[in-house]
Amino acid sequence: MIDIHCHIFPNVDDGSGNTNDSIEMAVLAAQAGTKGIVVTPHCNIPESYKNHWTADLKSGFEALQAEIARRNIPITLYPGQEIFLSAGFMELLNEGRLIPINWSKYLLVEFDAHESAPVAYRKLQQIITEGYIPIVAHPERYEFVHEQSDSIYRIKDIGGLIQINRGSLNGSFGYRAMNTAMEIVGTYQADFVASDAHSQYSRTPYLADAHELICEKYSADYADLLLKINPQRVLENKNVYNF
Ligand SMILES: [Fe+2]
Repeated sequence: MIDIHCHIFPNVDDGSGNTNDSIEMAVLAAQAGTKGIVVTPHCNIPESYKNHWTADLKSGFEALQAEIARRNIPITLYPGQEIFLSAGFMELLNEGRLIPINWSKYLLVEFDAHESAPVAYRKLQQIITEGYIPIVAHPERYEFVHEQSDSIYRIKDIGGLIQINRGSLNGSFGYRAMNTAMEIVGTYQADFVASDAHSQYSRTPYLADAHELICEKYSADYADLLLKINPQRVLENKNVYNF
């Protein structure tokens, strides 16, 4: 499996607190059968985590990859960010301060939990117009998605893609997120499932249970599409498949 959303970068956001935590997260991910992790620190959040791409972030990323390799943990890291779509994000993207997943055309993006639907659609459209493809992180957690039954259809119609959280499927974010996640997955509108892991203890990168759940409820082919095939295609900058 490839995990396209993981807060394994040490000490830059509310994810891993230090290198040791990151190593334990990598070990857990490897035990689950994950081969690659996109490192996606929170980024561009007003009054909070900035984490715009810099030489320091690049060297921190390379140092973590080197430590994982030194310990013979079979995980490859790929660069990325979880980009909060606040005002001015397009300028930052054009300046190289916001980066796509593994330098592809795919951006992992998030909104404020209470973002309005029209604003969300407009921002996604702006990204598409610039030639990128937005992957909306955990839409099952957003208010406008709960309130508007056609919102996922609208996002996909604009050209956005849908990433569901492992923790939403297992109920960690409550019934509403779980029911919404299951409905999106159950209607084959999901494009990816990722961990959105924040630690080795809770919200972990152990994706095997999410893969197993989708195998049991739907099919092994669908589970493989969401957790292996589409994530791999993003890393290779290829178009993803629908089920
Ligand atoms: Fe996240």
